[in-house]
Amino acid sequence: MIKEKLLLSALNGNVNTIPPVWLMRQAGRYLPEYRATRARAGDFLSLCYNPELAAEVSLQPIKRFQFDGAIIFADILLIPQALGADLKFVEGEGPRLSTISMQKDLDNLKPIDEIDSTLSPVYETVKILKSKLPDNVALIGFAGAPWTVATYMIAGRGTVDQAPAHNLLKNNKLVFESLMEKITEATIHYLKKQIEAGAEVIKIFDSWAGSLGPNDFVNYSIKPINKIISSLKKMYPKIPIIVFPRGANQFYKGFAKKTGAQSVAIDQSISLSFMKALQAETCVQGNLDPTLMVNGGKELLDATKNIRDKMAEGPHIFNLGHGITPDANPKNVELMLKAIRG
Ligand code: CP3
Repeated sequence: MIKEKLLLSALNGNVNTIPPVWLMRQAGRYLPEYRATRARAGDFLSLCYNPELAAEVSLQPIKRFQFDGAIIFADILLIPQALGADLKFVEGEGPRLSTISMQKDLDNLKPIDEIDSTLSPVYETVKILKSKLPDNVALIGFAGAPWTVATYMIAGRGTVDQAPAHNLLKNNKLVFESLMEKITEATIHYLKKQIEAGAEVIKIFDSWAGSLGPNDFVNYSIKPINKIISSLKKMYPKIPIIVFPRGANQFYKGFAKKTGAQSVAIDQSISLSFMKALQAETCVQGNLDPTLMVNGGKELLDATKNIRDKMAEGPHIFNLGHGITPDANPKNVELMLKAIRG
């Protein structure tokens, strides 16, 4: 009999003696082998669009740490690029994109049926990964949530407070909402293609959800995510979906049900007692402070065991509260895994 993959088991609501574990941004610069492959590809975007090498970097943390999930190697900003935005990553600074501020900018975006001319290498990456992954590892596809993607498309870069997007919403709601609609449609298509190619789990990153006030949170985080999930579920009723509404604070409550997600990823600002309460609603994932992966030691061990023990009675996926950082020490990942798996 083939045993159910641990990650899928937790997403189906099961309680496991040892929780499945993977890390946000597990394929990345903290690994020397990632830096070597990126150098071979030339730069980050060339790596994203090179299926052989992208699959290779997805597999690196699996080989090293035997994680229970592999995430496809791509970026949430490939959708803007596929829609026609100019995109580049500036070393040490982050992404730079052409901006959206008026109707004319929207008119210049490509129709949804043209985005695959940019995105098809990603589907190829998924297929390669599917053929190479160990049997017990689940393949995770992903995209950014419409709000988070819109914040980058409007500002043309990452911002601390997402002010340009909030301003567009206030001053030109029609353009803002048309952009959100367009991203939502592109994302549904993109994720559908990832599932067709072999993704077994989908994660939606709403990394800037925390800057939305109560009404905007409903309209621009929950509603578009719900639209994506319900569209995917019409085609693939069983596909498990994890959503990460980073910084959602009290709005984490009820979030899984309102969006239709099977799991919520919890950032490190949430207390373990609140996380435990959320576990009564859904499978919880995350919360370990990523800065602990830099220095490690007893602090890391204690925090790891604390999360594992407090979440042991319900569906749980072990993960960080946000992405692992480039200065993290791979040895600390091993330390954490020992504390989880014994
Ligand atoms: O292991 C993995 O998770 C790899 C796939 C992945 C990447 N980005 C690769 C990447 C995933 C799932 C993402 C998600 C992503 N990208 C998010 C949501 C998660 C989060 O962190 O909140 C966001 C907001 C982005 C946008 C983005 N990509 C920024 C702002 C930056 C620059 C800052 C940074 O963290 O480097 C990136 C670059 C990026 N995306 C890198 C990687 C491995 C580093 C690029 C490099 O090699 O120089």
